[in-house]
Amino acid sequence: MSKVALITGATRGIGKQIALTFAKEGYNIAINYISENEDVENTKREIEKYKVKCFMAKGDISNFEDCEKFVKEVIEEYGQIDVLVNNAGITRDTLLMRMKKEDFEAVIDVNLVGTFNVTKNVIPYMVKARSGRIISVASVVGIAGNAGQTNYAASKAGIIGFTKSLAKEVASRNILVNAVAPGFIQTQMTDVLKDNVKEEIAKSIPLGRMGTVQDVANVIKFLASEESSYITGQVINIDGGMLM
Ligand SMILES: NC(=O)c1ccc[n+]([C@@H]2O[C@H](COP(=O)([O-])OP(=O)(O)OC[C@H]3O[C@@H](n4cnc5c(N)ncnc54)[C@H](O)[C@@H]3O)[C@@H](O)[C@H]2O)c1
Repeated sequence: MSKVALITGATRGIGKQIALTFAKEGYNIAINYISENEDVENTKREIEKYKVKCFMAKGDISNFEDCEKFVKEVIEEYGQIDVLVNNAGITRDTLLMRMKKEDFEAVIDVNLVGTFNVTKNVIPYMVKARSGRIISVASVVGIAGNAGQTNYAASKAGIIGFTKSLAKEVASRNILVNAVAPGFIQTQMTDVLKDNVKEEIAKSIPLGRMGTVQDVANVIKFLASEESSYITGQVINIDGGMLM
């Protein structure tokens, strides 16, 4: 029977590439998304080209009831969730001096509380199955910090602590919990940066370029595979050597 991967925020960017990569591997896919837009139908169509099923699970991950509902829908559809990828995330960058309380809370609510909300609703099914993989998308910023991103860095550092703690809680149930920490990846999230800023960033990266969404998806595919069955509680940087 095909394995099932649930990926949050997966109608564009890194999440979409993760979903496509799992589809290529033969997984049935559940895509969480927050609002109707053209990407929803396009993404579903692109996934189904790989002759796998694609279920679209609508819900705001910062809302616990939404997560309860869409995780149930995925279980009704497939009967199992083998891999959860906590990918959805937002930024509201500005210096702390200018940051509004709402900007801090919004980022924590989506990135960190959202990771809790989805994982909390998925984990009982993995415990019952005595098997599962949870991979959360953190960031190098959660390790090194970054001016203008106190909210985002705190949320990503939180995901790292969450990952390590949960890994210890569920290891005996054969559930492996890891995080990835991407550096600068080319997506709509980083497209907002000015060209000269992007060039400066590329110069500061030992491998001399920004990462691609496939660079991230490849590591997540590995963390979901049998090849990584002795790895849990880890954070793997995908950053071209930015952080060593
Ligand atoms: N792009 C980078 O350089 C980079 C670097 C490090 C980490 N990351 C992380 O990778 C992940 C994906 O980033 P991306 O660059 O593809 O960004 P993106 O903005 O292209 O995609 C984020 C996705 O999350 C969804 N989303 C946002 N809020 C949501 C909510 N409340 N509920 C459900 N879905 C929601 C969005 O609709 C979107 O589809 C994020 O967690 C981000 O923090 C990105």
